[in-house]
Amino acid sequence: MLSEMIGGMTDHDVRTLADDELRTAQDLFRSTLHVKPITDEEWPQVRAAVQDGPTLGVTDGESGALIGTARSFESAMTLPGGAGVPIGGVTHVGVRADRTRRGVLTELMHAQLTDLAERGMVAAGLHASETSIYGRFGYGVATCARDYTVDRRFARFRSDAPVGGRVEIRTVEAAIELFADAYPRTATRPGMLTRPAGWWAQLRRTLERQDGPVTAITHEGADGVDGYAVYSVDRPQPGPATLRLVDLQCAGPESFAGLWRYLLSVDLVHDITASGRPLDEPLELLLTDPRAVSTIAQFDDLWLRLIDVPTALAMRTYAGESLVLDVTDPVLPGNDGCYRVGPDGAARTEDPAALHLDVDALAMIYLGAWRPSQLVDTGRVRASTPGAARQADRLFATSAPPWCGTFF
Ligand SMILES: CC(C)(COP(=O)(O)OP(=O)(O)OC[C@H]1O[C@@H](n2cnc3c(N)ncnc32)[C@H](O)[C@@H]1OP(=O)(O)O)[C@@H](O)C(=O)NCCC(=O)NCCS
Repeated sequence: MLSEMIGGMTDHDVRTLADDELRTAQDLFRSTLHVKPITDEEWPQVRAAVQDGPTLGVTDGESGALIGTARSFESAMTLPGGAGVPIGGVTHVGVRADRTRRGVLTELMHAQLTDLAERGMVAAGLHASETSIYGRFGYGVATCARDYTVDRRFARFRSDAPVGGRVEIRTVEAAIELFADAYPRTATRPGMLTRPAGWWAQLRRTLERQDGPVTAITHEGADGVDGYAVYSVDRPQPGPATLRLVDLQCAGPESFAGLWRYLLSVDLVHDITASGRPLDEPLELLLTDPRAVSTIAQFDDLWLRLIDVPTALAMRTYAGESLVLDVTDPVLPGNDGCYRVGPDGAARTEDPAALHLDVDALAMIYLGAWRPSQLVDTGRVRASTPGAARQADRLFATSAPPWCGTFF
């Protein structure tokens, strides 16, 4: 059926794999990342961490062996304005090393987008191993993130930093259970995703594989648990100890400050590393010496693919004056056309367009990661009327940079 949807029989017929093929698919994916195959002991846990959703596969015509795979699971993504849209989380993408550069990924991507569209997904999202792969399939960098380190010697809270709430050490299980309930309330920033049960199972596996001991904490405010963090500590002998934050989520400024007050109070720690954090996370502003925090990397976070452009445009909010966009989608041509976008909503129109862009560029401005004028200035988007780029900047602006914050 999938091959029918992507244009009939091809050299690489894509099909949905059966449950008893999932381990082979996982091993294939691992081999493409140069990771050892799953052992019999590991498999039950690995299986539990596979989120519900189809795994697609391509088998070799002669040997029948699996040579390519891609999975997706269903989630929801927060949009500017607060609405959520169904999104397919794309993961476990790999093609056997002796079959690469023959179009296997292309077939998988096209089939997966068709499948996600049929399942009512408005968008697809992924975290890319290499940044040159996914633009051709309509994905664009829609959120960015940063890694930072905190030198504990210089990290002192300012006297006017928020106080309140209680931090409690829990077992990993208890912290996850308490926080998984609260998490949807905290996922308010554009680009954040709901986390299915399989995602939390994957986090448990990640925590089990840390070198140092793992600690889980919750923050409780006036309305109950509103934040949590999990971390491990590496304490080489001799050498300075590093506290590695694996996940930290919070509902607001008090829980953010409360969790960091605790983290900075942990004894025998020299520095703290935090990875994949929001670009504007205001830890520096809480401290007497902002240079105690050093950004060590900034990078692309969520690659977004708008599958149902009319719905995606209609679901977010806009500010300023309306404008007509002319969208081109080389993979899903049903999205092609002109859309009037403004504070009253977004809908198809016959009116002439002011901005002309491909669907990957639309994904880059959709959550507010990039200003439309930046894409015009760099040749990614064409403006056909004067002032259109600045007008689009105002329309798509968001109050905070988008962030995904959920790795998969
Ligand atoms: C990335 C990967 C899935 C690509 O599979 P593939 O079957 O070789 O891809 P295709 O043959 O369909 O290539 C499609 C296009 O992408 C390009 N491309 C594919 N992989 C690329 C890479 N790693 N770097 C740059 N370009 C790449 C191809 O050159 C081709 O370009 P074209 O359309 O201009 O001809 C495969 O190389 C792989 O499994 N890599 C290791 C695991 C990995 O990185 N997985 C992704 C996890 S997010």
